Amino acid sequence: MKESQLRGRLADACRVTVLTGAGVSAESGVPTFRGPEGLWRSHRAEDLATPEAFARDPRLVWEWYDWRRRLIAGCRPNAAHAAIASLEARVPDFLLITQNVDGLHRRAGTRRIVELHGNLWRVRCLAEGSVEEYLDPSLPSLPPHCRCGALLRPDVVWFGEALPTDAIRQAYDAVESCDVMLVVGTSALVQPAASLPRIAKAHGAYVAEVNLEPTPLSAIADESHLGRAGEILPALLGIPSAPDALPATTRSETRCPR
Ligand code: OAD
Repeated sequence: MKESQLRGRLADACRVTVLTGAGVSAESGVPTFRGPEGLWRSHRAEDLATPEAFARDPRLVWEWYDWRRRLIAGCRPNAAHAAIASLEARVPDFLLITQNVDGLHRRAGTRRIVELHGNLWRVRCLAEGSVEEYLDPSLPSLPPHCRCGALLRPDVVWFGEALPTDAIRQAYDAVESCDVMLVVGTSALVQPAASLPRIAKAHGAYVAEVNLEPTPLSAIADESHLGRAGEILPALLGIPSAPDALPATTRSETRCPR
């Protein structure tokens, strides 16, 4: 492949948008959905990740989320999460759009995040719609109930549900105006996330992709890097593996007049 332009593009960029999927957390030990070891190989989404499944058997759905919460509680952010967090400190206007519900980007230090598919460390009351963080991996009961007596559900987006309006609006705003879009560890098969890099490209952004294998986005990406995100991203971005090793800030506010 020809030499990567990504670092130069990032150095000149005012607005940078990153889109991540399950692959960014794979090296932390969080299972992906597709691929040989993917969750959808051994579990049916229709039984576990739809509102109908929850209405039919809330306990079964909660058992699956309980298992994932416990598993993820024992995982740590990896070098890819850290590289993305460091990138945020280097660019004037940054947004991370993630399809992941694991919370690892925030734990790695990223601040400007849109969680398109929600977050499994939050619970939502079915009756009141109120949302609360529930960080303790042990739930009091399965399924858990709200103080008002109604069922709680994980505050995630299931198949057949609309994405949070605010999240999708912020995501569209970002991809329509960014100079560089970096896409990491997503199979780019689930909409609307999959179309975000295409929108960025159509609006003139430079699009770079990092994935173990080619995806439907590879054909439109300006550069595609095949391999493990935790190995490729720090090198590609020129970011030392220890985020603390970075200078306090290298961002140039002046290059981006408002
Ligand atoms: P997928 O499981 O569909 O895809 C994971 C992608 O990560 C694949 O393209 C892998 O090749 C790549 N990958 C795996 N390990 C990697 C590594 N170490 N470095 C780089 N790439 C790696 O996950 P998503 O694209 O996130 O939605 O799936 C999108 C949505 O489908 C999820 O948010 C979830 C799922 O069903 C809902 O549950 C609503």
